[in-house]
Amino acid sequence: MGLTDDQVAELVARASDVRERAHAPYSGFTVGAAVLADDGRIFTGANVEISSYSHTCCAERVAVFTAVSSGARRLVGCAVITDTTPPASPCGACRQVLADFGQEMEMLLASTCGQVDRVPLAELLPRAFGPDEVLRKIRARHGHD
Ligand code: THU
Repeated sequence: MGLTDDQVAELVARASDVRERAHAPYSGFTVGAAVLADDGRIFTGANVEISSYSHTCCAERVAVFTAVSSGARRLVGCAVITDTTPPASPCGACRQVLADFGQEMEMLLASTCGQVDRVPLAELLPRAFGPDEVLRKIRARHGHD
């Protein structure tokens, strides 16, 4: 897989830093995420819990939305860190959001104890639905292609 050892270390360190700012007063389950864009920029996010629980946003989605709203459209790596062993794996909703911006990305599932599992996102979300399927349909309907 594509990430260098330095990139892996940097992503895990950035995810670990942002995890300190997670807002998880209800679950106590704090998560940090860091995504690497294809232009080398790194964006981070922590989970933010809301008193009306369903409005909570996972760390991964905060990181991806920060990346996209900063102009990054192609993501190549994502570290997620928790204090659990084995490391937590992203929820289903986050897998879809990540896949929309990089079906080829490498996931780094990390624990504060130092374990880092490197897994292709495609293994976590095989045969993913993606933007191309929607865009193909829209273009066909409008007479392009
Ligand atoms: N959480 C994440 O931040 N990422 C995931 O992939 C799974 C769950 C958060 C949401 C909630 O604040 C807490 O972990 C417990 O579910």
